[in-house]
Amino acid sequence: MSLDTNGRTSTSVPSRLTSLLTDEDLRQSLKEDARTGLSASPKWLPPKYFYDQRGSELFEEITRLPEYYPTRTERTLLREHAGEIAELAGAEVLLELGSGSSEKTRLLLDALTHAGRLTTYVPVDVSSSALTQAMEALAEERPGLVLNGVVADFDQHLAQLPAPGRRLIALLGSTLGNYDRPGRERFLRSVADAMDPGESLLLGLDLVKDPGQLVAAYDDAAGVTAEFNLNALHVLNRSLRADFDPDGFRHLARWNTDEERIEMRLVAERSTRVELRELDLTIDFEDGEELLTELSCKFRRSSAADELTEAGFRDARWWTDPDEAYALVLAKR
Ligand code: SAH
Ligand code: AVI
Repeated sequence: MSLDTNGRTSTSVPSRLTSLLTDEDLRQSLKEDARTGLSASPKWLPPKYFYDQRGSELFEEITRLPEYYPTRTERTLLREHAGEIAELAGAEVLLELGSGSSEKTRLLLDALTHAGRLTTYVPVDVSSSALTQAMEALAEERPGLVLNGVVADFDQHLAQLPAPGRRLIALLGSTLGNYDRPGRERFLRSVADAMDPGESLLLGLDLVKDPGQLVAAYDDAAGVTAEFNLNALHVLNRSLRADFDPDGFRHLARWNTDEERIEMRLVAERSTRVELRELDLTIDFEDGEELLTELSCKFRRSSAADELTEAGFRDARWWTDPDEAYALVLAKR
């Protein structure tokens, strides 16, 4: 069965896919960010452009790698604590930011259904391919659940997201770690501003740990993360008519001790000139020059709690695994 914008089958409740962000909008924001980021020193690019269809597929592959512990640890934590989270949240609506495949989300949907109030799931993602695929699978599996997917950028559209009842807003996969500290402050405040009092926020957070384990998780032996990182250049080539030679760049994952974050970079293996025809822009890379493609900040309990309080959240609850590799945090607006 395929999903359309009007509904599913005569026996299932309607399901809707709304777009607040067209492919053209995304291309326009890539144009602006690429012009700014590639002209800066050091060069940078925001991570949201990783997630074209290929990038979303590669991310799913990453989640199954032996070195990449965050996904399976978060899944275990959800399996153990989703019941309590659902009771505490008392939500009618699960709204998930950066929902991707919605794979682990099923544990939350089960728990919220069991708690008896859930009516609607609102998956929100910048990747229309990942969102469509996730919604098709969920529509098959859960004919009684209203699915209200939204293609949107959570840096822009938080205030426009649906609120058809009391919400639990989830941001899993440690996606909050893609922001640096000032970026998190802005983002968490805008999430808080978009919420009604009594609604809840659930965060999955990867924690500070042995740098060797962290670097391995972002530089796996099979080279999948390298391919994910290099896919950003394919996105630039296709969307901005650029001529990056992905073979001329290598993947680098570095632990930044002071900032307690993994930094993913692409390193030019020789001096290179790149034309971005859509931008009428020429960019030179020196031999060894780095392009920063992703920050993945790691968290500590006390500072994460402070950041939530400063942003306007209260009553934070915290669950972690025995190795303290990863945490779930639930806070009330
Ligand atoms: N929550 C899933 C996926 C995490 S990967 C999990 O835990 O496995 C991050 C997801 O966030 C991707 O699906 C990506 O497309 C989405 N994303 C990244 N930046 C975004 C943005 N600015 N707005 C909306 N979605 C975004
Ligand atoms: C989803 N996001 C927060 C992942 C992370 O761990 O930072 C993306 C990722 N990048 C490389 N591997 C996984």
